[in-house]
Amino acid sequence: MGTRSRIALIGFMGSGKSTVGKQLAGAIGFNFVDLDEEIEKQEKCSISEIFGTRGEEYFRELEERALRKVSSKNGLVVSCGGGIIERPANRELLKSKFFVVFLDVDFDTAWNRISNDISRPKASLGREESEKLFMKRRKLYEATADVRINVSGKSPAEIVNCVVKEWRIRA
Ligand code: S3P
Repeated sequence: MGTRSRIALIGFMGSGKSTVGKQLAGAIGFNFVDLDEEIEKQEKCSISEIFGTRGEEYFRELEERALRKVSSKNGLVVSCGGGIIERPANRELLKSKFFVVFLDVDFDTAWNRISNDISRPKASLGREESEKLFMKRRKLYEATADVRINVSGKSPAEIVNCVVKEWRIRA
């Protein structure tokens, strides 16, 4: 089945991966998995608690394991945390096992959505540091994705339509 049976959504915090992912899964009859939620269920605590008590590296370890686990399942839309592309092993896994969609949001839109969200530890860096992170990661999202969708100004339904179209053509 190649990478057709698994779609991964990647992109910065606030790009709409979870909202789009749920609707996309419904539209094509796939199951939906939010990787952060899987980690929270497994660890029985929130992402910000994991960052606070065990640190980011520990979280990245859990994230890599969670991605590896879902990479053997079929009929799945996976919403990945914004930092999934930080580890080269994750980028390789995404490329080899998933049809990868980069939801490309502009920084201002993302920042408006995340700046007051205390559940996102990486958003507490402040605007300037977050924008640096955004610029650095943008290249990695692009290098990992099969397709990039400019999501700024689009509704979730419009984004879902774009993804489905690209997936049918390319996956
Ligand atoms: C992170 C993004 C979060 C979550 C964690 C770290 C990041 O996911 O995985 O807080 O490093 O960008 P969202 O992109 O869904 O907010």
